[in-house]
Amino acid sequence: MRFYDIYVRHNNNPSKAYKLELPMMTLDQIQALVADQFESTNQIILDRLQSDVVLVNQVGHYIVAAGGKRLRPMLLLLTANALNYKGNYHSNLAAVIELIHTATLLHDDVVDESDLRRGRQTANAMFGNQASVLVGDYLYSRSFQMMVEVGEMRVMEVLSETTNQIAAGEVLQLMNVNDPDVNEANYYQVIERKTAILFAAATQLAAILAGADQDTEQALREYGMQLGIAFQLVDDALDYAANTEELGKNVGDDLAEGKPTLPLIYAMQHADEAGKELIRHAIEQGGLDSMDAILDIIKQTGAIEYTYQAAEQAVAKAIESISILADSEYKQALIAIAELSLKRNS
Ligand code: IPE
Ligand code: IPE
Ligand code: MG
Ligand code: MG
Repeated sequence: MRFYDIYVRHNNNPSKAYKLELPMMTLDQIQALVADQFESTNQIILDRLQSDVVLVNQVGHYIVAAGGKRLRPMLLLLTANALNYKGNYHSNLAAVIELIHTATLLHDDVVDESDLRRGRQTANAMFGNQASVLVGDYLYSRSFQMMVEVGEMRVMEVLSETTNQIAAGEVLQLMNVNDPDVNEANYYQVIERKTAILFAAATQLAAILAGADQDTEQALREYGMQLGIAFQLVDDALDYAANTEELGKNVGDDLAEGKPTLPLIYAMQHADEAGKELIRHAIEQGGLDSMDAILDIIKQTGAIEYTYQAAEQAVAKAIESISILADSEYKQALIAIAELSLKRNS
């Protein structure tokens, strides 16, 4: 089930308008900028996973130790630094955001019946659905304990609204499963709520901590939102175009589940009658029986390229929205992360 060639070809295409060839900073350089704060964030995450209940520790450490890119905490730390924040709460809030993310992954893999995450068996495959759901709840509630410790009502407002929207987004997506009439607008509603809003919260919270003015706070929220949209678009392209080993998740999970994501929606719209029928049926039924035929249609219609173009546009908006920030290496890092998110393959 390889569709990697499209992805590679896409990114090597010099005619593309966006400048992917020379990112301003590498991921290593970006990480080096906030290495100490990142380290303390990771330490806080590990410390706060602790529970006297053995299974909570096991499941929590199992998923956290598997790694993950820690992209959301990185965004929060970089934003706080770009705004000259000098306090200590950014590492705590970065940990809160990552714990919320981790909780959503535990739940998401149950709902999606996924068995591979971060290159290893999902927690549900390893410990069962019940343990995953309950430990996901534990992490959620732990993150609420931690945000209260910050003692800022606005922080709690943003995070309680965010988690509520994520939950609604996941339910909305559930309603769209096996529905071939889901359109692009419906799709964007889901990805904004289930994914982008947590990115937006990360960057907005950094602005709140730093005491930024209203315009700056909004600009940073918008940066996070657009980057989150791009991130999920790429994720949905990779579900067809990546390679399972590199991705650390099973390619084809979305089709197996009958989940109408943008590559599939676009391919169905632009296929001939037989192709339309095939995709309709695949969304309604789920399963991977017609994967090869659907990959052909995706290739013929340019659905992966279309999805990447949408992601590029969102990245361009993200970068544009932080033009308001004073220049700094942290701002450059935020720009570079946005560009790199289009090139990721894991
Ligand atoms: C996975 O997020 C869930 C999506 C929103 C697509 P990440 O790709 O950031 O997952 P990890 O934390 O790096 O494993
Ligand atoms: C992730 O959506 C969204 C959340 C975890 C809230 P996906 O279902 O596409 O993420 P992966 O592909 O399982 O990581
Ligand atoms: Mg999933
Ligand atoms: Mg996915």
